[in-house]
Amino acid sequence: MPLHPSNTEDMFHTAEDILQPTQARERFREHFLVPIETHDQKWVDLWEGGEFLPWDKGTASPALVDLLNQQKENPIFVAHNHKSGPKTALVPGCGRGYDVLLLAQHGYHAVGVDISAKAIDDAQAWIDNEIQRLKAVGGPLPTGQIDLISGDFFKDDWVAQVGIDANGGFDVIYDYAFLVALNPALRTNVAARMHQLLAPGQGVLIALEYPLFRPVETGGPPHGIRSSDYDGLFGGKFLKALHYMPERTHKVGEGSDMVSVWVKQIPPKYSKM
Ligand SMILES: C[S@@+](CC[C@H](N)C(=O)[O-])C[C@H]1O[C@@H](n2cnc3c(N)ncnc32)[C@H](O)[C@@H]1O
Repeated sequence: MPLHPSNTEDMFHTAEDILQPTQARERFREHFLVPIETHDQKWVDLWEGGEFLPWDKGTASPALVDLLNQQKENPIFVAHNHKSGPKTALVPGCGRGYDVLLLAQHGYHAVGVDISAKAIDDAQAWIDNEIQRLKAVGGPLPTGQIDLISGDFFKDDWVAQVGIDANGGFDVIYDYAFLVALNPALRTNVAARMHQLLAPGQGVLIALEYPLFRPVETGGPPHGIRSSDYDGLFGGKFLKALHYMPERTHKVGEGSDMVSVWVKQIPPKYSKM
């Protein structure tokens, strides 16, 4: 079973592959020109088909690799490093789980959830292979627990299954190509759900802002978005701790991707009069 799409012409390698109305871009767009209520099944169909997964890069996000390497000194991680129990991280819409393994290598109890059971099977196979490879070459092994689970990000059943509290149980959420994979009408729901899942005061949402180069009116997925849209979605309940252009990112976002990091604030206490 090939773990990577065999037809590389169907991949989104560069921004041009998404900006030009290529066959792959149009195929992806037309696949989702159906009512939003049926989109979950449309993702499942793509994974079951297995030959058209144009987003799949085959590696963890370089921008996340670099940010996690600052874990000791970057203030956004301080609270996690002083936690008594295991620190927890979630990758919504994890696909083949590349970023899940990376977070576990940094000590997180890392959870990857995907609506497709086939995606989760692929992720398990890829992570198992990768751990064997790392053992052979003496590479960094995961020190945190890994849970790969199929489920709907918006529902609570999968959170309970991994033994984490859906109300504030996660220290980190990493979003790459999940928020923008969904129809833009769902964005406020995604933001509210991420807020619910994160721990108050220390929970951080790390967002790889992408595809900033794509005009919103050209449709998706991935649907075009601007940094100001992230501000609008997360700025109210989260504190924006970082916003920068990463030195390294997936090729498709080079020169445009930004990283924003959002801390879930502790709700203000009401004092008695
Ligand atoms: C564009 S892909 C990105 C995958 C992965 N983050 C990556 O970069 O390779 C979006 C993923 O979200 C998943 N997905 C879509 N709707 C979902 C939902 N409601 N809950 C969980 N996963 C979902 C899809 O199956 C798909 O794997």
